[in-house]
Parts: sequence; structure tokens; C-alpha cells
Amino acid sequence: MLRLGRRRREGAGLVRVCAEGEIADGEIRAIEGLPAVLCRTGDDLYALGLRCPHSGALLSKGKIVGDCLECPLHGGRFALGGGAVRSGPPRRGVPAYDVVVRDGMIYISRRPRRRNRPAQRRR
Ligand code: FES
Repeated sequence: MLRLGRRRREGAGLVRVCAEGEIADGEIRAIEGLPAVLCRTGDDLYALGLRCPHSGALLSKGKIVGDCLECPLHGGRFALGGGAVRSGPPRRGVPAYDVVVRDGMIYISRRPRRRNRPAQRRR
């Protein structure tokens, strides 16, 4: 069995997004190369799918309301923690990705996870 070092494993499954200080509180940023957005609320970082499943609006143009990401088109809301529908017309949630902060850089998983947890901080 091939054993990969920690750095190699993370490199294979994570995509570097930006430095932690480059994303402001309340900002929603489309992630280049992945159908995902990175959201910051306070010190917490979340990554959800880019498109609303209702009519395909770009969630990068939405806004953070409480613990939800609100769609800009019809106001559907998705839980930042997991992507589930909280209100509005969408019938299904959006994918959620893992977020990792390591050495001041933000990474997200290449593939969505079932549950979206606040960023894991690794020093
Ligand atoms: S497109 Fe998002 S709620 Fe309709």
C-alpha cells in the first residue's frame, strides 16, 4: 500500500483559494476553477456550490443573511453550514465543500462534502 505524506494528500484533494486576509467579513467570492463560492462571516469560512438549484442564479452575487447564503434572484436561503435549504423556492440544497486554513492560506476540497463545517485551522 502506498502511503502519502500529509502534505501530498492535502495537495491532491485541496485547491488553494487565497490568503486568509484577502477575504473580508461578509464577502462571497467565486472560486476560480471550481463551481463553488467561498463565504466569510466573522472568522468562519464556508464553501458552497456556485449555482442556485432553483433557476441557476450565481450565488456569488448573493448575500450572507445570518447563518445563510441568500440567492440574489428569488431569495432562496441555504445554510452556510451544510448547504441545506432554509427557505424560499429551491427544493434542494447546494453542495458544500470542506475549507482548510493552513499557514495563512485558504484551501477548499476539490469535491463537495455532505456536511460543511467551519474552516479547520491547521498550523
Ligand atoms: S434562482 Fe435562486 S431562488 Fe430562484
